[in-house]
Amino acid sequence: MVYRDIVVLAAVLGSIGTLLADNPCLKGPPVAKNAAECCATPSLVEPSAFMACHSKWISQTKRQMTIEGIPRGCCVAECVMNSTNLYSDGKIDRDALTKLYLASAKPMAPEWKQIALDSIDGCFKMADSIKDEIEAGAKLTPAFDGEQICHPISGTILACMGMTLFGECPAKLFTVNDDCNKLKTYHSKCPFL
Ligand SMILES: *[C@@H]1O[C@H](CO)[C@@H](O)[C@H](O)[C@H]1NC(C)=O
Repeated sequence: MVYRDIVVLAAVLGSIGTLLADNPCLKGPPVAKNAAECCATPSLVEPSAFMACHSKWISQTKRQMTIEGIPRGCCVAECVMNSTNLYSDGKIDRDALTKLYLASAKPMAPEWKQIALDSIDGCFKMADSIKDEIEAGAKLTPAFDGEQICHPISGTILACMGMTLFGECPAKLFTVNDDCNKLKTYHSKCPFL
């Protein structure tokens, strides 16, 4: 309990940013378990489409996570959005994104439909509330040789959706065990990457 409080405190201090605290998300999830075994949530794309973008961009994304300052756009997320034509010119097509989440939710437990709609609403409102920072991130220039600058909107929306859906998993659909509880705590602060 105390340990967890310290980790949370370190994360808060780290995000305030004067200390070069370890980013608690950089090491990845604390357990090897697949989150979908704890709670399968609606998703935007098939795991194979996500994995294709993941393999292509994850090493750049990990390197960018160690850079301080204005948050940099995540190319894994932009690649995923591009694969479904949801992204263009700094904007996400919200209607098309909603259709994809609802199609994914359709064969699942009926609770997911409203949870997905509410999550989309919350995530777009959140992105709007930080739009200055998102725009600033889009205008960054490469910090290392070969860095591709992606627009932060895709990562902002995708990270928010993944974390919100997992966090809102109805209790009766969540597998309660040690590993899953640890993943739940981890993903309340850290995105799926
Ligand atoms: C996504 O598509 C845009 C063109 O709409 C392109 O400029 C950008 O490089 C693509 N991003 C990735 C990560 O492939």
